[in-house]
Amino acid sequence: MVIVIDGPAGAGKSTVAKLLAKKLDFAFMDTGAMYRALTVKAMRCQVKLDDAEALVALANKTHIDLVNESGRPLKVLLDGEDVSEAIRATDVTNNTFYIARTPGVRHVMVEWQQRMGERRSMVGDGRDLGTVVFPNADYKFFLDADFKVRCQRRIDELKAKGQAVDEEALARDLAERDHQDISRKVGPLKQASDAVRIDSTNMSIDETVEFMFNRIQQKK
Ligand code: DC
Repeated sequence: MVIVIDGPAGAGKSTVAKLLAKKLDFAFMDTGAMYRALTVKAMRCQVKLDDAEALVALANKTHIDLVNESGRPLKVLLDGEDVSEAIRATDVTNNTFYIARTPGVRHVMVEWQQRMGERRSMVGDGRDLGTVVFPNADYKFFLDADFKVRCQRRIDELKAKGQAVDEEALARDLAERDHQDISRKVGPLKQASDAVRIDSTNMSIDETVEFMFNRIQQKK
């Protein structure tokens, strides 16, 4: 069974997907983490981020794995190395757009993700899962929230980690990522016509997970 959650950055997709996967005893597939991991490799190898051909060649000689271990955070392996922390750095977050906008790279990523989906039941989160990667997913959700609330959630997340936050810069970056995600020619952020839209502006994480869980139980 495949459950997908698409939506803009900061809507809470990963948090919700992780909890829903745990509740259902499914694997969690964080597709953003995969684009981020390839960004880490491109930056380390000093591949020009606007060189589409070089990025596709790099993707083809890269192995990215997502390791689900019960009771542990998802582990992201880049050619066997644990990059779960490295992929969250601000420069990686800001550069991932180059990787995500490259059609040939998306082609490779989509194949990896489809193969993972064939192996076991999972909850995946991303931008194009309901539209491109898993058009026949068993359940599709599109998770959104007001821009200000999404900013605040990111601010709280970073502060909780003890990081200093430039709130204006964060809002600018988030608006820019929204624009990049929506305007991308291949695999843009888009609600699938058969996805259930959830506005989590006034919902807690638990309420959102519960809502999805109940929808799944009802349709079963
Ligand atoms: O969900 P996230 O913020 O970790 O995603 C990181 C980047 O990857 C973001 O810029 C959008 C991109 N992305 C994508 O293009 N397609 C996906 N399925 C998931 C993420």
